[in-house]
Order: sequence, then structure tokens, then C-alpha cells
Amino acid sequence: MSLVPMKDLLLKAEKEGYGVGAFSVADMEMILGAVKAAEELQLPMILQIAQVRLPYSPLDKIAPMMAAAARNASVPVAVHFDHGLDIEMIQKALDLGFTSVMIDASKLPIDENIRITKEVRKIVDRYGASVEAEVGQLGVSEDGSGDASKIHSDPKEVKLLYEETGVDAIALSIGNQHGFYKAAPVLNFDILDEANDLVPVPLVLHGGSGISDPDFRKCISRGITKINVATATFCAVKDAAAEYLKNEKTDYFSMSDAMMHGAYENIKRHMQVFSMK
Ligand code: 13P
Repeated sequence: MSLVPMKDLLLKAEKEGYGVGAFSVADMEMILGAVKAAEELQLPMILQIAQVRLPYSPLDKIAPMMAAAARNASVPVAVHFDHGLDIEMIQKALDLGFTSVMIDASKLPIDENIRITKEVRKIVDRYGASVEAEVGQLGVSEDGSGDASKIHSDPKEVKLLYEETGVDAIALSIGNQHGFYKAAPVLNFDILDEANDLVPVPLVLHGGSGISDPDFRKCISRGITKINVATATFCAVKDAAAEYLKNEKTDYFSMSDAMMHGAYENIKRHMQVFSMK
């Protein structure tokens, strides 16, 4: 169908009461597995890559692959630059055809976060793309770096950032965390409800790997529209390769197919939950 701005997917999902999965990819196997799942379920999806992953998957190589997969898919797909840390890389992602970017200035005081997000908004508008910002801190980054202490979002700051910047989506910290959880996550639904009452914009849940299906559904029914999943897919692909390599005879292409299948199964499972059917 097409490569679309993220905003279009999220507004439709918000209206119709389902969640859109934003799946992190690092190579062609994951891209193929993700699109196969979305096409089979006939559901929209977001393909994304975080700036911290670029040492492994250079942007100028993976971006054209992600954009081509989206353009050729039989369902709407947005291509999103996750956790953009500086304006230069965000600009590069937009030049390479990303239809959405996240500016992650959440570690900075809210005034600074707003100032940088406003700057990004101006650039993104020239491309007709969408912007996600974050309020509060998840602590650990997607690649495991950073300080583990989280700072829950302050709904008043969520409102302020929205009013000042007009972003298309806002990521919250409500007890969610990147990477697998050491103990079952306890999400603070009061913060989610309060933020959802204060802003009309779709809300984003990062750290999807390890959140229970009932909690996913509860989040979607209370304002979360975009849900990020990374670690669970990376592990599913690694485990699929390890399982395949237990065979007596192996070859590269069958292993690649097993890896694609690992991504597909994990992503399909999450998409089914997010569809709220
Ligand atoms: P997980 O790795 O915990 O699934 O988090 C993904 C994420 O939020 C990417 O931004």
C-alpha cells in the first residue's frame, strides 16, 4: 500500500481503539519478518531503528531497505527514527525517507526538552513527517546503557510540552523500561489516565518486551496508541538462529530464513494483542 506518515496511522488507530506496534529492526531478516506479519494480519505497522543501533546497522544502508519494504507492503507502514539524539542525525533520517522521527531530549529539564523539540518540529514539518517526543525518563536506553533510575512522567509537563510544540505523539514513563524486566513491571495507570485527559495526542509506550498482554490491552484502552518492541524481537531472532544451528547439516540461507521466521512470529504475536480483537 504505502509508506505513510506515522501520524496518519496513529490517529486512525486512536479513533478505532487499537494499538500500532512499532518494531525495531536491525537487518533484512527482521524487516522481511515484520512486513510478512503485518501483511498476513492486514494491519498497519511502524518499522523503526534507534540511533544507538546505528553502529551495527548504518543508517544509509538500512534506511533504503526499510523505506522500500514499506513502499512495497500491502498495508500502510511508517518508517520511524527512534530515540533521535541530535538534530544532525534526525535530518539525515528525514533525507533518507523516514516518515517519522523521535527527538529524545527527555534527560534535559522540561524547558530545554521543549526548546529542542520545537526546533525538530520545524525541520520535520518541511518533510511532512511526524514527531514523537518524550516526557519523563525510562532510565536505561534500548542498548542497555544509561542510568537504571527512572523518572515517571509528570502529566502537567506532558501538557506543557504538547501545547508548546504540537508534537504528534508523546512517550511516557509510567514504570515501563527498555530491555527485559528483572521483575514484572508495575505500570502506573493513574499517570497514564491523567496525561490522556490533558492532551489530545496519541501516547507512546516504550519498553514493550515483557509487558503482559492484559497490561498492553489496558494501556491501549487508556490512551496508548504506539507500542515499541525491540528486545523481544532481537532475542527471538537470535534464538531462532541458535535452534537452527542445532541441525546436523546447516547452510546460510536456511539460517537466514529461520531468523526471518523468528522475527515474524514474535511480531505477529504482539500485533495480534495490539489489534484488541
Ligand atoms: P524493548 O527493547 O524493551 O522492547 O523497548 C523497545 C523500545 O522502547 C524502543 O524504543
